[in-house]
Amino acid sequence: MTEGPIVILTGAGISAESGLGTFRDADGLWTKYRLEDVATPEGYAKDPALVLDFYNARRENCVGASPNAAHSALARLERARGDVLLVTQNIDDLHERAGCTDVVHMHGEIMAALCARCGNRRPWEGRMCLTDVCPECGMDGRNRPDVVWFGEMPYHLDRIYSAVTNCGLFVAIGTSGSVYPAAGFVSEAAAAGAETLEINLEPSETASRFDRQIYGPATETVPAWVDQLVGG
Ligand code: APR
Repeated sequence: MTEGPIVILTGAGISAESGLGTFRDADGLWTKYRLEDVATPEGYAKDPALVLDFYNARRENCVGASPNAAHSALARLERARGDVLLVTQNIDDLHERAGCTDVVHMHGEIMAALCARCGNRRPWEGRMCLTDVCPECGMDGRNRPDVVWFGEMPYHLDRIYSAVTNCGLFVAIGTSGSVYPAAGFVSEAAAAGAETLEINLEPSETASRFDRQIYGPATETVPAWVDQLVGG
């Protein structure tokens, strides 16, 4: 049994086998869209309808997808141990639907809306469009998904850094290690004395920073790793 709390960082790879696209693989979303157009404040200012449509498609895919064996295994780990913090870069809600109760969405959530004028946040299902009116400030034309775009500050960083620098084991699952600050968590954890483990389809950009690596599809590797930790 690993000593000390566990922090798990997940990325798009954990949801790949649920049918949600990753970003940087050969057929990833960033090979089909320019991230500057659809995932930046500048892109939203220039063409909000295009951005809303991009995320409407992401939301539709998310609603149509189901959690896979990797999501379920992490929920089982959370139930078996009280000291697991799950941090995700994913905007989907598959960890929650698999039964995880405390998920830190550092890049926001596709099933939530943010008013770009007054900051009101609320759950959101279905399509988002420019005529949506904010229930708080009464303005239309400023509705956006509550997701963190490039150039914006990720959410919950204080809580995340505190957990990362006080854990016994840091695990990154299904992330390419190309977006900071998340890509830097492994180094922060290691510097503070934690063991580090990468679980991914193939070596990520930061693979050499981890003490141990397990490679293969998440639906196989993650349940097997959880079995080792807490039994099947
Ligand atoms: N099992 C495990 N890992 C997988 C699987 C799988 N079935 N399929 C793909 N992967 C791995 C890929 O090898 C890759 O290393 O998942 C990783 C996905 O990397 P990215 O597409 O870069 O996704 P992520 O790391 O989550 O991206 C970080 O970038 O665009 C932004 O905000 C977006 O949160 C996202 C951030």
